[in-house]
Amino acid sequence: MKTNLNGKYAIVTGGGQGLGAAIAKRFIEEEAAGVAILDYNLEKAQNTAKEIGGNVIAIACDVSKDEQVKAAVEQVLAAFGRIDILVNNAGIIRDAIFHKMTDDQWHQVIDVNLNGLYYCCKHVVPLMREQCYGKIINISSTSANGNPGQCNYSASKAAVEGFTKTLARESARKNITVNAVEPAHIDTEMQRSVPADILERSIKANPSQRFGTPAELAAVIFFLASDDSSFVNGAIIPVCGGLRT
Ligand SMILES: NC(=O)c1ccc[n+]([C@@H]2O[C@H](COP(=O)([O-])OP(=O)(O)OC[C@H]3O[C@@H](n4cnc5c(N)ncnc54)[C@H](O)[C@@H]3O)[C@@H](O)[C@H]2O)c1
Repeated sequence: MKTNLNGKYAIVTGGGQGLGAAIAKRFIEEEAAGVAILDYNLEKAQNTAKEIGGNVIAIACDVSKDEQVKAAVEQVLAAFGRIDILVNNAGIIRDAIFHKMTDDQWHQVIDVNLNGLYYCCKHVVPLMREQCYGKIINISSTSANGNPGQCNYSASKAAVEGFTKTLARESARKNITVNAVEPAHIDTEMQRSVPADILERSIKANPSQRFGTPAELAAVIFFLASDDSSFVNGAIIPVCGGLRT
């Protein structure tokens, strides 16, 4: 029988656009019982939910604010009754070479990419432990391995990877898997916000000589969210056209 997400309820943070929207769409295509999009841009989240159709709910939530995450998780529980899958996808870039990086650029990126993921796990992991089932998928980046202009972003994503490996070891006995992906060069607004000359150089450096599509990334997230990946735990999977092998 084909594995799908039949009967499963998911949270996708930052699902208003880009990778998160593609992930939410794929989950519904795979018959997820419900998907909650948590995004600080409620209008975008609502539009995406409408476009996807099915049981998708949009909730305003800035993941960098603990109390907003707590309230959003309570709202999801009230609507769905349980949470099987958590995709920590919300993320931002505030690029600058380190000696020109401001405190604000540093703190904003750490607050969303790292602390935001921490708050989401803080409120969801206890529920997963109680039900002895859970799939957590964290969106890192190939930049976790270093990328000029991204000390803040690289640090946040490298920390996400350490967090992923540790939480995986702590949670495996409770039938919870925690994995991460390292995307690069996927065609989204975040990617298009990079200066054109840098983008052109990046694509030339990519062995595939092209951008990936959000759907190509969503296919890997679906695998990690499904029971086909039941013995994959603490993995960091590059989805980058061969850029990082
Ligand atoms: N696009 C790529 O090539 C690429 C490469 C590596 C990693 N990533 C990672 O993938 C994830 C998604 O990136 P994307 O390209 O889809 O970006 P995007 O900018 O297109 O979309 C990000 C979404 O997150 C939301 N968001 C931002 N800050 C938030 C917050 N504080 N609380 C809640 N929602 C928030 C935005 O409103 C938006 O809907 C990020 O974690 C990013 O670091 C992307």
